[in-house]
Amino acid sequence: MANVKFYAGESFPLEMHKVRIIQKLNLVSVEDRLKAIKEAGNNTFLLQNRDVFMDMLTDSGVNAMSDRQLASMMEADDSYAGSETFCRLENSVKNFFGTKYFLPAHQGRACESILSKIFVKDGSVVPMNYHFTTAKAHITINGGKVEEIIIDEGLKIKSSHPFKGNIDIGKLNAVIKNYGASNVAYVRMEAGTNLVGGQPFSLENLEETSKVCRAAKIPLVLDASLLADNLYFNKLREEACKNMTLAQITRRFADASDIIYFSARKLGFGRGGGICTNSEEYFLKIREMIPLYEGFLTYGGMSVREMEAIAVGLSETLDEDMISQGPIFIDYMVRELDRKGVPVITPAGGLGCHVDAKAFLDHIPQSQYPAGALGSAYFIASGIRGMERGTLSEQRDENGAETFSNMELLRLALPRRVFTLSQVNYAIDRMLWLYENRKLVEGLRFVEEPKILRFFFGRLDPVSDWQNKLVAKFRADFGDSL
Ligand SMILES: Cc1ncc(COP(=O)(O)O)c(C=O)c1O
Repeated sequence: MANVKFYAGESFPLEMHKVRIIQKLNLVSVEDRLKAIKEAGNNTFLLQNRDVFMDMLTDSGVNAMSDRQLASMMEADDSYAGSETFCRLENSVKNFFGTKYFLPAHQGRACESILSKIFVKDGSVVPMNYHFTTAKAHITINGGKVEEIIIDEGLKIKSSHPFKGNIDIGKLNAVIKNYGASNVAYVRMEAGTNLVGGQPFSLENLEETSKVCRAAKIPLVLDASLLADNLYFNKLREEACKNMTLAQITRRFADASDIIYFSARKLGFGRGGGICTNSEEYFLKIREMIPLYEGFLTYGGMSVREMEAIAVGLSETLDEDMISQGPIFIDYMVRELDRKGVPVITPAGGLGCHVDAKAFLDHIPQSQYPAGALGSAYFIASGIRGMERGTLSEQRDENGAETFSNMELLRLALPRRVFTLSQVNYAIDRMLWLYENRKLVEGLRFVEEPKILRFFFGRLDPVSDWQNKLVAKFRADFGDSL
């Protein structure tokens, strides 16, 4: 946000854009919300948008586009091979990261699949600050395993550490020593660490990690999907970045990495993704996979309109007004909830506000998915859908036992430039009501449990009739209000 000081009281987020196209929203009654979440098997992924008031499931592919992005989509050059649109995207990506090569893919997980197929073998290990669901699934499916080497502070709910997404260099050295460098497929560093509250890493930490990797001849792979948020925090919180431009910080990230991949549903505000590198050897290996799994080298599964939008979206990512909008709204929501005693991850990170379901629902054991139960209860209370980021989002171990997540989070994503401050205040209000009534909420159990990525389409039932009690309390407290 531009430097604007306020005359009366505390500061609040000020939008540096205006809304020119809107979509009407629908808020259905609490009884209909209960019906909808039951039909969705208590899985917010399975809700129909027509029943959702504020969609805080994710920021993926749902950030608001700029007028310049929309305009660029009208001049797309459609062609299987050699389109001008692809040249514009390629130039934009190369200009952004300063890398020699760019290969397109249909989305972030496609990049993860390709990199895992190339680098991961039976017995490989991939150390990373923290796993992301699809990244881990692709590594394990290819016979590898993940080692999380985030700093201890990264797993604390309440903290004032500015870079909770940092890798612990001591842990990295220990993993390399234990497994042997030749068994480390690559080290993965995730910008804006998704599953632990959208927490950033510092430029200093990435560069230290890079030094260790280069000395051991292990490729360093940067997942840049949430780079925009990370960049904002580098500029705001890291002394060495204060006088650097966002473009300069991005180049330093790229110089420290051997391979960069991203989901353009997040970075660039479109659809699709891609992989960048300066290494001809990696480029040639990755290139072989693109036509096999994604599409020809000049579209990789993306539509030309999306490619145009990403090309413009990347240049807009270097605008501080644009990248600050998400984090300052999240900061506002986190501070308001924290001030009123609701357990949330601090400091506020990127992506969304993360509610600590373990503390919120401390009477529900992890085996009954407290974060999933909180997501279901919050939808009933508000019509807002969040995303479970806890044990439900984990995969069972090789013996079929639950892997209890380090954190049980309900993530309330704030897609950039989508919601107004009054809508965020509504989300806060309904969370405060639910916190008052938290003892009414009980757990969930699976009735249909897919083996892979179960959180996407698994179905659950409540362990008792707690949802009816919650609806009755809502009616008693709010009368005929929606
Ligand atoms: C950090 C991170 N990496 C990778 C992905 C996968 O990207 P996609 O959804 O485009 O497949 C995501 C998606 O949410 C993500 O947040």
